[in-house]
Amino acid sequence: MTKPPRRSRLWFDNPDDPGMTALYLERYLNYGLTREELQSGKPIIGIAQTGSDLSPCNRGHIELAKRVREGIRAAGGICFEFPVHPIQETGRRPTAALDRNLAYLGLVEILHGYPLDGVVLTTGCDKTTPALIMAAATVDLPAIVLSAGPMLDGWHEGRLAGSGTMIWESRLRLAAGEIDYTQFMDAAAASAPSVGYCNTMGTASTMNSLAEALGMSLPGNASIPAPYRERAQMAYATGTRIVAMVDEDLRPSKILTRAAIENAIMVNSAIGGSTNAQPHITAIARHAGVEIEPMDWQRVGYDVPLLVNMQPAGKYLSEAFHRAGGVPVVMKELLAHGRLNGEALTVSGRTAAENVAGAAAPDGDVIWPFAAPLKEKAGFIVLKGNLFDTAIMKTSVISEEFFERYLNQPGKRWVLEGRAVVFEGSEDYHHRIEDPALGIDEDSILVIRNAGPVGWPGSAEVVNMQPPAELIRRGVKALPCIGDGRQSGTSASASILNASPEAAVGGGLGLVKTGDLLRIDLNTGTADAVVDAEEWEARRKASHRASRPARPRGRRSTAPPSASSPRAAAWSLP
Ligand code: FES
Ligand code: MG
Repeated sequence: MTKPPRRSRLWFDNPDDPGMTALYLERYLNYGLTREELQSGKPIIGIAQTGSDLSPCNRGHIELAKRVREGIRAAGGICFEFPVHPIQETGRRPTAALDRNLAYLGLVEILHGYPLDGVVLTTGCDKTTPALIMAAATVDLPAIVLSAGPMLDGWHEGRLAGSGTMIWESRLRLAAGEIDYTQFMDAAAASAPSVGYCNTMGTASTMNSLAEALGMSLPGNASIPAPYRERAQMAYATGTRIVAMVDEDLRPSKILTRAAIENAIMVNSAIGGSTNAQPHITAIARHAGVEIEPMDWQRVGYDVPLLVNMQPAGKYLSEAFHRAGGVPVVMKELLAHGRLNGEALTVSGRTAAENVAGAAAPDGDVIWPFAAPLKEKAGFIVLKGNLFDTAIMKTSVISEEFFERYLNQPGKRWVLEGRAVVFEGSEDYHHRIEDPALGIDEDSILVIRNAGPVGWPGSAEVVNMQPPAELIRRGVKALPCIGDGRQSGTSASASILNASPEAAVGGGLGLVKTGDLLRIDLNTGTADAVVDAEEWEARRKASHRASRPARPRGRRSTAPPSASSPRAAAWSLP
């Protein structure tokens, strides 16, 4: 095999331009690298470092990078580690929503503008994974994903305490007066027992599992808990592998094909993955030049069964998933039942089918067999109607209680009807949800709008709205929710979300009024406000796009932004 020319030679060893070579070279010698090394033809491998004190979910990468370096050196490469714009999903105010694209843009410029032949993408917290893969796809430099790994399983009062899920549960208990402030804080802390990212199948574990399903990481990478020895061993293997990938010219364009994108969609159903997978995988596909439509999520993914028994769709956390064999077991099971494109090429240099050939059989408890799954048809349903052109509903988290109460009424299977109670974003929701004048009862459907990519801006995880405390005390722990925002991947809410077009750009959600009857029919995939067509048209005419928020400009003040709405943030215009 002929090795491709080294890209880094343009900087460090360009015979046509000694002047620029000298300029590029000298500064990289000033911490001890030698000219011999940099001109030896060894590939220069970047480590895109997402770990920092600001991003605890990815902080383990600071240590792991040392093993990556050893792997790179052992395989004959030279390593340049550099920082990526930090993203902390839970700590970033007002929202980390825009940071995926910010980190993406920054990384594109780094990969494009510096002497790198390949790159190790250190992923973890929700948006770090798509941001880094999108950048690698854009620049099309050999790239391999190394996950930080999930936290160990949390335990609280003798029960598993999962990231996010514990917070949602404890908030309900706090609202119902069952626990106090201190008990609430203790429960939250118990769900985060070690370094690593969320230990539930939230957006982080989902996106790292899907990076593996896409073929962008070595098999088995996603599920190894952050503190396990295998994590550092995986770091070493990843470092050695990227050097070979450079020689093989194995680029994202050969891996991120339509087959790989479909594999991610199918694996997402089988793992009970996050609804955030939809915008992230769509963005990765677009940057790789693969066109996917919202309906592809239903067409490719809906009838794939739920195999992984992990919170929020099931009961276990990441340590159990890892012990059961992780993503390779799931992929092998899907492949055996014709629900995986086995020929898709991966960073290992082998196909997806070859990667998982030696994987274990499902244990039947943490990972269930395809033939007898936790739930049949567990993918997303894609809905349309006068409320929006597309929105998704994650079926794997529909609880028995919710199913019985709303979807399986006699003569009305899979039809959900109720009166809309409309909120203009999450601040409005928080201000008014306890207002008895709204008359919220078990026949209400909570609607939130102006929470999408333009309206928020960036799209916020706010659609999983908690019912008023009075209702919770009466045992109604969830109401149907609809919105043009997103929701946390750790939420078990069967919301209808990611509605597009969003209200802020003229979508139908902007025309709904509190009191309107809404009808969601999952048999036909429709979602409509049952409002007379003339009246609906009149509302459309009357609505003007002035509701579209002005883009904030200028310097920010040092006052902390609001946690709930960027539009309430303090901006100081020049
Ligand atoms: Fe970072 Fe969940 S908040 S992984
Ligand atoms: Mg999130």
